[in-house]
Amino acid sequence: MRPSLSARLLSLTLVTLTALPLVPAYQCAFTVSDIPYDINPLSGVREVSKETPTPPTTSEAVVKMELCGSEGLGKEDGVADEDQCPPNTRVCLQLLNHKPSSSDPDRITAVIPIWPADAPDGDVFTTPMGKKGEEGLKIYVQGSEYAGVPQHLNLTLLCDRNANAANPTLVSYTSGLLSLEWATPNACPRSSDDLPPGSPPPENGGTSGSGGGGLGFFGFLKFLFWLIVIGLIAYFAIGIFYNHQQYSARGWDLIPHRDFWREVPTLMSDLTNHLIAGFRGGSAGRGGYSSLG
Ligand SMILES: *[C@@H]1O[C@H](CO)[C@@H](O)[C@H](O)[C@H]1NC(C)=O
Repeated sequence: MRPSLSARLLSLTLVTLTALPLVPAYQCAFTVSDIPYDINPLSGVREVSKETPTPPTTSEAVVKMELCGSEGLGKEDGVADEDQCPPNTRVCLQLLNHKPSSSDPDRITAVIPIWPADAPDGDVFTTPMGKKGEEGLKIYVQGSEYAGVPQHLNLTLLCDRNANAANPTLVSYTSGLLSLEWATPNACPRSSDDLPPGSPPPENGGTSGSGGGGLGFFGFLKFLFWLIVIGLIAYFAIGIFYNHQQYSARGWDLIPHRDFWREVPTLMSDLTNHLIAGFRGGSAGRGGYSSLG
C-alpha cells in the first residue's frame, strides 16, 4: 500500500517543525542611542570569584552569570536550594567563608540574587561608552533588597577586539553594589561592514545576530509558516471530528473534502510538469536564437 497523503503531509510537517525553532533567543541584540550591539556570544553560564583574607577566615565572593538565556542560570544539581539563587536569576552572588580549622570549613553565608531574569525593563539601564559606543557598553541593574540593602549590578563590558576572556572579572562588591568588568570583542558596536543591513544572519554558529530588517523578514516568513501549519492541523482536526460526529464516518471518509485532497498530488505533479516544460521550452528557444546569431 502506498503511503497515504495525510501520512506524507504529517511527516513533511514534522520535518519542517524540527527544522525551524519557534522563538529565536534574541534579547541580547539591541540598539541603544542608535548604536547596535549583539552580546549573544556572551551567553552561557559564566563564573568568577574573588577571595579576600578576613583573618581568621578567608572570604570568597562567587558570581555566576547567564546574560542572554531567558531562563536565567537554571538549577544547579547537587547543591541545596537554599545555597543557590532561584533558577530564573541572571546574576547570582554567593558569599562563602573558609575556615580550614573548623569542622565545617566552607560555609555559604549569603546567596544574593542580583539580577532576576524577570526584572522589569525599567530596572535595567544600558549605556554605550565613548562617543559612538566604541569603548563598549555599561549595563546597570537595580535589583531587589537583600538584608535591607538594595542590590545593584554595575557590569562594564569593554570593547576590546583582541580580548578573549571567557569570564568577566569581579572588581568589587561593596554595600550592595556588585561591579563586574569584561573586556571582549562582543562589547564592540556592530559595524555596518560586519553585517550589511537586511542581509540574512551569518550561517556560522556562535554569532547569532542579524540585522533588524533580516529578523523582520524571516520572522514574518516563520509567522506565516506557523499560521499555515496550525491552520491545516485545525482544519483536519475539526473536519475529522465533524465527519465522525455527523456521519459516523470511518477510515478514509473521515478526511474532510476527501476528493479534493485525493486530487492534490496529481494537481501538484501536473503543475510541476507544466512549469518544467515551460522553463525548458523558454531556455531552448533562447538557446536556438543565440546559436543562430
Ligand atoms: C562600575 O565599575 C567600574 C569598574 O568596572 C567603575 O570604574 C565604576 O566607577 C563603577 N560604577 C559605579 C557607579 O560604581
